Amino acid sequence: MEVIIRESTEAACGMVAQIIARSVRGKAETVLGLATGRTMENVYGKLAQMHQSDGLDFSFCRTFNLDEYIGLEKDDINSYHHYMTEHLFRHINIKPGNTHLPDGTAKDLKAEARAYEEKIRACGGIDLQLLGIGRSGHIGFNEPLSSLMSRTRDKVLAPETMAQNGPLFIGGEMPKRAMTMGVGTILESRRALVLVTGEEKADILAQSVEGPVTSRVTASALQMHPSCVVVVDEAAASKLHDRDYFRWIYENEPEWDALR
Ligand code: F6R
Repeated sequence: MEVIIRESTEAACGMVAQIIARSVRGKAETVLGLATGRTMENVYGKLAQMHQSDGLDFSFCRTFNLDEYIGLEKDDINSYHHYMTEHLFRHINIKPGNTHLPDGTAKDLKAEARAYEEKIRACGGIDLQLLGIGRSGHIGFNEPLSSLMSRTRDKVLAPETMAQNGPLFIGGEMPKRAMTMGVGTILESRRALVLVTGEEKADILAQSVEGPVTSRVTASALQMHPSCVVVVDEAAASKLHDRDYFRWIYENEPEWDALR
């Protein structure tokens, strides 16, 4: 795991967008794993900008989102389908048929979960998985005590997640369950790219990166990922013990020369 501390939220989001763009430029058929949430809005804005002004081409990309609420129709304003359309898909040249999110309205959720895993496999697996970390320490909606080997399935959301996302709901109640890729599914991605910003995430970031690997904080499982980069701003980094060490690695790692 590598932790990159950037001077501002803007710089952290810019770096994440650049890493995604580099992956898409390097392999036109990149399979991207995508996340939703407040943190990612800035990143998607930047990718849309890169498409519009620099011609960043998404026409061969395929995408798989981490999660979707159970019971929300795709066109529901609170659904992650709607979020992705509004924040990214309608601004870039991705083919709608190449974008995938779990169907939270499926009658047979277990069959839907199996089919989602199968679709990821059929596309050759996820090249780059974008992730945020929730207040409960979740990645995707893998709430505390999710098995670190879990696969896509339906999950009851933790009270902390209800408190985190409830205020975002417009004109309706937040569902208490979601369909999410499992921790095991996420760990199989070729590369994981985590973005964490803001002081309110400082504590959970420190637990995820420097604490023990535990199902109580499912983001900590990323310590076992073979290629995981965590990009954070100074505020989120404020409770990390080894900040100077992370800076040293970043400054001396040639991979980042072009993005510094
Ligand atoms: C959303 C997702 C979640 C969020 C996390 C952080 O698809 O997978 O794990 O990344 O809840 O959300 P924000 O960015 O709103 O703090």
